[in-house]
Amino acid sequence: MSAQDTNQKFKLENVFNVKDRVALVTGGGSGIGLMATQSLAVNGAKVYITGRTGEKLERVAELYGKNIPGQIIPITADITSKESIKKLADEISSKESKLHILINNAGISSAHHTTEYEDPKELQEELFHNTTTFEEWENVMRTNVTQLFFTTTAFLPLLNKGTEEERGWSSTVVNISSISGIIKSAQHHFAYNASKAAAIHLTKMLAHEITSSKLKLRVNNIAPGVFPSEMTANDSDEKQKSTIPKENFEGKVPADRPGKDEDMAGAVLFTVSNQYLNGQTIVVDGGYVLATGTV
Ligand SMILES: NC(=O)c1ccc[n+]([C@@H]2O[C@H](COP(=O)([O-])OP(=O)(O)OC[C@H]3O[C@@H](n4cnc5c(N)ncnc54)[C@H](OP(=O)(O)O)[C@@H]3O)[C@@H](O)[C@H]2O)c1
Repeated sequence: MSAQDTNQKFKLENVFNVKDRVALVTGGGSGIGLMATQSLAVNGAKVYITGRTGEKLERVAELYGKNIPGQIIPITADITSKESIKKLADEISSKESKLHILINNAGISSAHHTTEYEDPKELQEELFHNTTTFEEWENVMRTNVTQLFFTTTAFLPLLNKGTEEERGWSSTVVNISSISGIIKSAQHHFAYNASKAAAIHLTKMLAHEITSSKLKLRVNNIAPGVFPSEMTANDSDEKQKSTIPKENFEGKVPADRPGKDEDMAGAVLFTVSNQYLNGQTIVVDGGYVLATGTV
């Protein structure tokens, strides 16, 4: 190979190539899951999207799946049920001989607490008596943590086939965690932040154990700052997109704005395609963690 020929390797379409990859994005019908889905599908991947609400998924496939090099295929599933995850894995296994990319993105938020009380009785009233229950904590953990474990392990054989069948490619799991799992502030939602810290550690454990089993799979997590979604904007429009006014973030984060589709696209394409990345947390937050200094 001549020196000039090696230049080819550095082309964007080679470095970030996801053409003909088969992917599954949980919670692909809105917010960050939709951003991940578009990032992969417009660059040629066949992307299965899942969530509990069939209409949302159908709308996404209809709006974003046409006239692009890849595909978007909706399948309804609830990733907090082992039975539903198994059904999803069986359905995808019946259609595909391999899975190259699994993005565990589905997640929920948790109850809001006021934490600013300085009187112990008031703080107790708010945190112990008022706002939350064991059941709520369990629900958040089930959706944001436990399902990462079961969804990942359900797809191990299919992911491994993806590695075996593509030279130079190791299949990959990307968990969408959060900067909320890194900073020490509860941000008024203890259960959510605890669940995201657990998701980051679970990513590390899975990466370690899977590589210890000599499987050539990569498990990483993306920890976003604030991006517009049904979770953060409370809603989405007829295109399944959400909006957060830029002004809300001026002075609150070095980037002076919430994250954009393109910011998430870059993070997703880097994380899935970089064959040398394993067990890591990719923070995409406009400098929030840096600025708050709360790690
Ligand atoms: N947006 C942010 O600023 C931000 C920042 C850091 C981390 N994150 C993380 O990013 C991920 C995506 O959230 P988002 O902000 O994009 O919010 P979102 O728009 O509410 O998206 C969450 C998606 O997950 C799906 N989902 C929820 N529970 C599910 C279940 N049991 N089974 C299957 N699908 C389920 C929802 O669809 P259905 O309700 O139809 O099931 C929804 O489409 C979450 O893990 C969140 O914690 C978000």
